[in-house]
Amino acid sequence: PSVLLLNGPNLNLLGERDPAQYGTTTLADVERRVTALGEELGVTVTCAQSNSEGALVDHVHAARAHQAIVFNPGAYAHYSIALRDAIDAIPTPCFEVHISNVHAREEFRHTSVIAPVAAGCIIGCGVLGYELALRAAVGHIGGRAT
Ligand code: DQA
Repeated sequence: PSVLLLNGPNLNLLGERDPAQYGTTTLADVERRVTALGEELGVTVTCAQSNSEGALVDHVHAARAHQAIVFNPGAYAHYSIALRDAIDAIPTPCFEVHISNVHAREEFRHTSVIAPVAAGCIIGCGVLGYELALRAAVGHIGGRAT
């Protein structure tokens, strides 16, 4: 089995971008950790990141070849109907991650248009949320989550 780890806009700047909100771990570190956890749990993790909405839609479509998606859509979570529709259009379950607690931040971050079509959401757990989401995804697809 394989899982797509997908990150949206500005998450390539993880580690240097607003560390008070997002911490100092880089995206490369996150991808290494999630890949290593995948090895432990018996799933192959494929990593992708894009700042473009259309490219993310293409990645979601490509996730039909995987058993689950772990996805931090960044700000697109709050308004991209195109990404929501892409996730809704494929059978692969999507686990949405937000590093920060979006509900404790500005009003415009309180809504996710992705959440209603996600299999689950992990919010405000820092970059650990990616690993928690991978465990949830593996549990969902019938693997050994712990
Ligand atoms: C984020 C939260 C979003 O509101 C923000 O636009 C991001 C990161 C998070 O991981 O906390 O880019 O998705």
